[in-house]
Amino acid sequence: MNIESLKLVYFSPTGTTKKIIEAIARGIGHHPNEQLDITKPKNRNRQLMTSKNELILVGVPVYFGRAQENAINWLKTIKGNSTPAVCVVVYGNREYDDSLLELKEIMTKNGFIPIACAAYIGEHSFSNFQTPIAAGRPDAKDILHAESFGVEIRNKIESTAEISLLQEISVPGKYPFIDMAASKKNLFGVDLVDVGSQCVQCGGCALVCPVGAIDIERSASVDKNKCILCHACVKHCPTGARTVKDTMVKNIALRMSDSLQNRKEPRSFM
Ligand SMILES: Cc1cc2nc3c(=O)[nH]c(=O)nc-3n(C[C@H](O)[C@H](O)[C@H](O)COP(=O)(O)O)c2cc1C
Ligand code: SF4
Ligand code: SF4
Repeated sequence: MNIESLKLVYFSPTGTTKKIIEAIARGIGHHPNEQLDITKPKNRNRQLMTSKNELILVGVPVYFGRAQENAINWLKTIKGNSTPAVCVVVYGNREYDDSLLELKEIMTKNGFIPIACAAYIGEHSFSNFQTPIAAGRPDAKDILHAESFGVEIRNKIESTAEISLLQEISVPGKYPFIDMAASKKNLFGVDLVDVGSQCVQCGGCALVCPVGAIDIERSASVDKNKCILCHACVKHCPTGARTVKDTMVKNIALRMSDSLQNRKEPRSFM
């Protein structure tokens, strides 16, 4: 296979997916000629052109056992031309369930050929210092794993004469995919964020919100029907003014912080 360029595409409100994708890219050893952060709403209005001779590396976080919905909706609009793809999901140490199969399936339907897939662990979006869940991940060990995975991908590319000769990769997951409706019904629409007096109206939270739910002029004004609970605004706030309200989300974080103590390890599929 002749790969002339590398494109990175990721959705990453709290930055763990981005870290993993960049580490895999370092291992592949090609300088990315395009890095498309589809967390930003304006980038999800863009089209992505791809060709046979480039590799696309796609990273999406796991929400409710599925690949994150906004990312998937955008990925459904891009077209490959037998373009080799690496599919990666990042999850918060609970489980990745059907997400990797879902991502791989969408890429395949759209004309890409998955040549490698993986699931990595990132600090849970709901994690904070009181309720740590996979805190600090990806850590140095995860990053080393991701770089080595990148080297394996490069070796596979170099040792494969023609992409059509590759066998389909099998990944965990089952049909029908987990139904997100119940989780969304319980959690979406929750009034998540409290804004304290430390707020200096810097507008940072509105800029990192992946769905435009925060009014940039009045940071306390959040459209709870748009909010996807990603916690980007809470984690990025420079003054600590944004906190999570005493809601169901806080209780879930408390429970997960207790029950998800066992460290899970990354898995790759070639
Ligand atoms: C609404 C929501 C649902 C989530 N569902 C899961 C899940 O089913 N399994 C899991 O292990 N982590 C889950 N997570 C945690 C994220 O997958 C994890 O924190 C990931 O590292 C976030 O990626 P990012 O840092 O790129 O935003 C969920 C997070 C959110 C916000
Ligand atoms: S990021 Fe924090 S300080 Fe800045 S506007 Fe938002 S809540 Fe206020
Ligand atoms: S308002 Fe909701 S969707 Fe927007 S950054 Fe905050 S948690 Fe994420």
